Amino acid sequence: MSNDDMVMKVSVMALLPILTAPDPVLKSKAKRVEAVDDRIRTLMSDMLETMYKAPGIGLAAPQVGVLERVVVMDIGKTEETRQPLRMANPEITWVSDQDNTYEEGCLSVPEHYSNVVRPAEVKVRYLDETGTAKEIHAEGLLATVVQHELDHLEGILFIDHISALKRNMILRKLLKAKKEAAGS
Ligand code: NI
Repeated sequence: MSNDDMVMKVSVMALLPILTAPDPVLKSKAKRVEAVDDRIRTLMSDMLETMYKAPGIGLAAPQVGVLERVVVMDIGKTEETRQPLRMANPEITWVSDQDNTYEEGCLSVPEHYSNVVRPAEVKVRYLDETGTAKEIHAEGLLATVVQHELDHLEGILFIDHISALKRNMILRKLLKAKKEAAGS
């Protein structure tokens, strides 16, 4: 393979390693993005590719070890109906009084799922991949996903919304799986 091929492959796409709980990075607060530049756009693209591959419907930068306020999402069901959202510095500006319960999972909490109650609708203000300020009104699954991803920027996982008993059981299982993987 020539050097040119290598450069092209690297710039087109990079899959990023996903951190799993327990990990101190996942419990840390992410910093605001100063400017949506090429570095942030590349991060967004790499995060989307990593998310599609996993597969998942949302991914936050801390999950790939980057403590910056960047999230990506796509609740499209197939490759043909993809609707990627790339957000820098997202902020919730409004939540509905009505709540909704979804069974949530997380690429950083593999193979564990739990019901989480959150506001059914939210408005989110953010910068898109061009640095343009946008606002969306999310409902249904997207409302849940966007709140789940924004939690990651505060160092909060979905298991922080469930009982301590269930959370600790999940964390112990994840820790045991990590130790077994490291020992083998
Ligand atoms: Ni997650």
